[in-house]
Amino acid sequence: MIRLTHVSARYTPETEVLKSVDLHLEAGGFYFLSGGSGAGKSTLMRILSLTKPASGGTVEAFGQRIDSLSHADLPSIRRKIGLVVQDYHLLDHLTVRENVALPLKIAGEKTSEIREKVQELLEWVDIADHADMYPPTLSGGQKQRAAIARAVIRSPELILADEPTGNLDPALSLKVMYLFQALNKMGTAVLFATHDENLISLFDYPVLHLKDGVLTRRS
Ligand SMILES: Nc1ncnc2c1ncn2[C@@H]1O[C@H](COP(=O)(O)OP(=O)(O)OP(=O)(O)O)[C@@H](O)[C@H]1O
Ligand SMILES: [Mg+2]
Repeated sequence: MIRLTHVSARYTPETEVLKSVDLHLEAGGFYFLSGGSGAGKSTLMRILSLTKPASGGTVEAFGQRIDSLSHADLPSIRRKIGLVVQDYHLLDHLTVRENVALPLKIAGEKTSEIREKVQELLEWVDIADHADMYPPTLSGGQKQRAAIARAVIRSPELILADEPTGNLDPALSLKVMYLFQALNKMGTAVLFATHDENLISLFDYPVLHLKDGVLTRRS
């Protein structure tokens, strides 16, 4: 699905933030991404979501080498990837329902179909009661569930979740984790970044560990 070979990343010429990372995310897999603050987790997520180019090595996504593609080809590949970020990126002037509907609206789907899909997902993430509220009036957990609904509404093949439980208490973290697990059981690949070793220990998924930009895998 996505393969990185000897990938490096930098923001400035002097510092290499990712160092020769080899990584293969398989279709339908579930992976944790662990590592301390500044280890490079979000940077790796940016490379995988094709929002930041690698400074060395090769990135292949869905069978194509990214450096061989033109700018115009990228959106169709990015569409297969759903992103959940730690600070939610919800639009404050839109209701929860409108936020979740936005990707479908942009894609030009019919209003009646959008309404139905959005309602179904809002119920699934258990936030339908707050559908007509605006993000600033929601709790962190409610915002996170709205962001998850928005990330999955176009049925991506891969979900990249960057510390989706970072601001949640343990009970809610587990609830959010179960949502990702359910998505995975329906066939979506998931890369779940967290520094919560306790959460990781509750599940039997492979762990990709980043330290100072070097990635190792423990199963
Ligand atoms: N936009 C940027 N410009 C310059 N340096 C950056 C930028 N983003 C991140 N870095 C640097 O890259 C390194 C890795 O950062 P990154 O955000 O990938 O870490 P992280 O593992 O996600 O950390 P955290 O757990 O705190 O979110 C850090 O040293 C950071 O300072
Ligand atoms: Mg980060």
